[in-house]
Amino acid sequence: MPVPSLRRSVRTVAVVVILASLTLVTAAQPQRDDAIAVTVDATRPGAKIDRNLFGQFAEHLGKGIYEGIWVGPDSPIPHTRGIRNDVVGALKALKVPNVRWPGGCFADEYHWRKGIGPLAARPATLNPNWGDVIEPNTFGTHEFMDFIEQIGSEAYLSINVGSGTPQEAAEWLEYLTSAQPTALAKERAANGHPEPYRIAYLGIGNENWDCGGNMTAEYYLQQMKIHSRFVRNFNPAQQKDGARMLKIAVGPGGDGPRWTEWTETIMRAYKHRQWSWDMDGLSLHNYTVVRFPAAYKSVGFDEADYALLLSETLKMEGLVSHNAAIMDAYDPQKRVALVVDEWGAWYAQLPGTTPGFLAQQNSIRDALIAALNINIFARHADRVRMANIAQMINVLQAMILTDGPKMLLTPTYHVFRMYVPFQDATFVPVAYDAGTYAHGAITLPRVDAIAARDAAGTLWLSLTNLDPTRPAAVSARLVGTTATSASGETLTAPAIDSVNTFEAPNTVTPKPVTAQVQDGRLTLTLAPKSVMVLALRP
Ligand code: AHR
Repeated sequence: MPVPSLRRSVRTVAVVVILASLTLVTAAQPQRDDAIAVTVDATRPGAKIDRNLFGQFAEHLGKGIYEGIWVGPDSPIPHTRGIRNDVVGALKALKVPNVRWPGGCFADEYHWRKGIGPLAARPATLNPNWGDVIEPNTFGTHEFMDFIEQIGSEAYLSINVGSGTPQEAAEWLEYLTSAQPTALAKERAANGHPEPYRIAYLGIGNENWDCGGNMTAEYYLQQMKIHSRFVRNFNPAQQKDGARMLKIAVGPGGDGPRWTEWTETIMRAYKHRQWSWDMDGLSLHNYTVVRFPAAYKSVGFDEADYALLLSETLKMEGLVSHNAAIMDAYDPQKRVALVVDEWGAWYAQLPGTTPGFLAQQNSIRDALIAALNINIFARHADRVRMANIAQMINVLQAMILTDGPKMLLTPTYHVFRMYVPFQDATFVPVAYDAGTYAHGAITLPRVDAIAARDAAGTLWLSLTNLDPTRPAAVSARLVGTTATSASGETLTAPAIDSVNTFEAPNTVTPKPVTAQVQDGRLTLTLAPKSVMVLALRP
């Protein structure tokens, strides 16, 4: 019976074709019943996501300052008073809230007097931490403050506790901030700045448990109290309305009993402090590195390394929670901020670059690492009120890379730019079952998300898909908002190690995106290895 049999095979072919096309649709756009269910609850606002979580770190290290910021007054590279214009323009778009300077390890060997006065008269010194290169001191106090003004930021100075004295640090602050005609204030005026500078944040040392002098917690505590007592900010404008320079003590640099003891020692002393010393923050340093010396590649890596470095990044959650819990015990009012003033990915230096310069590329994986870290900080916004990515330009997980007159923006830069609306916005809880992304022995949450409401009432949602091959469908219930539209940007890349280069600077660059909102439900698909930030508007 040929006809029915023909019918049957036509039917079979049709079913196969339909199934095949369904398979294709699924790959491009996962079906909604697979969607990750998210609830964004704007009726339960949380803490303010302090804009200082988006702080930067600029150390005298490699090409971070020299070339990255400072090209000098005689450079053919377009500049304003020696500070390159392209870099300033790019940083302005990030609304950088604060810049930590001059280090890092460099800070505990920095003597500020060598970096003031006529450029030609400044001494050449050495930078023993970072390649033993000559430090020309041509970028000093006034140049840093000029840079801060040009990008519209705040200064976060690290004073030298390791090899300096309380007197040297106190005099630096008097030089910077005194409005009265003291000898130091007159010297500042003679060097071109009669008005006192505003120093918003002061770091009392840096990693004094290691490169800052190998101190025990107890020894550092004594030093910190002495410096906290004598290093004063005299700027009258900063004493108004109870505002003042905030002081940040050195905190832990990892997890384990040694670091717990460090946090306990400082916080116990804080609880029982006398009126004559104070602190407003405790730092935490944590890099995505796996182990030192850093050996993982910043470009040209495989999926095993992709997954490993993302899983390392997520350890930040445990560190922050653990230290926040210790701090809660001694400071239940959460007066002292946890300041994660060094974080980011630390890879093997790029082949052919100067040893000690910590030059590395920056891939879409770094964009994900940035989003995951910021999301962790935002979820702990009641305690984590400041953070500084290491480092701003040409060093470690940088925003910007330069090559002589050329400049490019990294995937990490794009995440910081996309997250600008989260600065000072109010945290909004997001509940979801993240699903999993697994590779080898590593299993990670597939999706990560945070939300916040800005001062104008707009709700912002950030979604990250860690899975490098599978798109993620998301179906989000929006509670407490009348949003009917969603638009924003998405950042993804062709490969897990895609980077921007001077020849191809836009390989990893955000694209505009819109998504559907209907009856209080947002539906969208996240590209593999992507970060999306959306504004939800009525
Ligand atoms: O960011 C590079 C270095 O890492 C800093 O100088 C130091 O504080 C940390 O160990």
